Amino acid sequence: MKILIIGGGGREHTLAWKLAQSRRVDKLWCAPGNGGIAALAECVPLKATDIEGILAFAKENKPDMVMVAPDDPLALGLVDELEKFGIRAFGPHKNAAIIEASKSFAKDLMKKYSIPTAKYEVFDDEEAAVKYIEREGAPIVVKADGLALGKGVTVAMTVQEAVNAVRDAMSGGTFGKAGARVVIEEFMTGTEVTVLCFTDGKTVVPMVSSQDHKRVFDNDQGPNTGGMGAFAPSRVYTEEIADYCMENIFLPTVRAMETEGRLFKGVLYFGLMITPEGPKVVEYNARFGDPEAQVVLPMLKTDLVSIFDACIDGTLDKLKVEFLSGACACIVLASGGYPGSYEKGKVIEGLGRLPADAAAFHAGTKREGDKIVTNGGRVLGITSRGSTLDEAIEKAYKAVKYVSFEGMHYRTDIGRKKE
Ligand code: AMP
Ligand code: GLY
Repeated sequence: MKILIIGGGGREHTLAWKLAQSRRVDKLWCAPGNGGIAALAECVPLKATDIEGILAFAKENKPDMVMVAPDDPLALGLVDELEKFGIRAFGPHKNAAIIEASKSFAKDLMKKYSIPTAKYEVFDDEEAAVKYIEREGAPIVVKADGLALGKGVTVAMTVQEAVNAVRDAMSGGTFGKAGARVVIEEFMTGTEVTVLCFTDGKTVVPMVSSQDHKRVFDNDQGPNTGGMGAFAPSRVYTEEIADYCMENIFLPTVRAMETEGRLFKGVLYFGLMITPEGPKVVEYNARFGDPEAQVVLPMLKTDLVSIFDACIDGTLDKLKVEFLSGACACIVLASGGYPGSYEKGKVIEGLGRLPADAAAFHAGTKREGDKIVTNGGRVLGITSRGSTLDEAIEKAYKAVKYVSFEGMHYRTDIGRKKE
């Protein structure tokens, strides 16, 4: 079959790599794709948010399935639009993608259905928000309501910092419309774990747990990024916690969405904080995480196309989804200056010499003649599997040594914290 993947980062490269392994797939397109994806799929120069362009391409080329990977096109209703023309698509409809697109929706849903999460209030009025912060004190967390590329969250250690975040967001400057409404919530402590789940709207199949590393520097220092590396499985996500989450978080969320008339089909991302009082939801995403997908998909044993089919058709209860044992680690190689400003177009050396037990998933790269050059902040995810987490991490770091480009930087402590 022929599949069109929407997106062009490390997650999409991993998806293309996994889908290319399926016996059922004989043609892949990716819009817009990147320098690494180009080796597996025909890249189509359309932005992931170009709904009209993607529709026109799909109508002409008739893919058997469109896999919508990023949040924006899901929130814009790409899946709904494709289906209107009889094109099969994987991912939630617009009315379900809101679980990621609006933090206030997500928080209100959790409150209504008693799903454990941090205490919060939603504000449309700046002065009321400031008063609330002064009453609650710090540390406290301020979140812009809409999609803000993961940058709409301020974990404020002082009241002043929180007030500044509210003023910035609500004056409409920093996040535009996304910040006109803010969610202010209680600060939680604990280890953050990601659990991606396949769901057809009724059955929930959790994937291997994973952990992202959001801060740019070692020991969780420096500003937040889109993710500097990941590993799977998490050491703290025990079977007991998994059972608790299934019963108190995953199933209740999917049922709540159904009850609300917003059946969620696709991948539901649970960002969890394992707090001293138990697991609580930090955030929902309506899609695979990145870089989490880069460590979770390599561990998937079951054919991914069959899982997508089962999610779309509502037959996930009939499919056995299996994962490999062992572990997987991914080290993100970033451009000099990232997450601030950085230059593009640096030639990447050494990709051809990578050891056979490592994969380089391209995030921000471009083909230029016979060279691969940098084309984004996060450039590559170097990924390895091992029979233990320590082995996976060691293999991935060994592979990193083969790759270089001007300004390249990465964290040296991915997966090293024993919690
Ligand atoms: P979010 O976009 O909601 O996932 O927030 C981004 C990051 O901010 C999370 O991954 C956490 O590290 C941190 N964060 C968000 N909410 C809280 C909270 N209530 N308490 C502590 N940290 C938080
Ligand atoms: N790794 C966080 C995300 O995909 O949103």
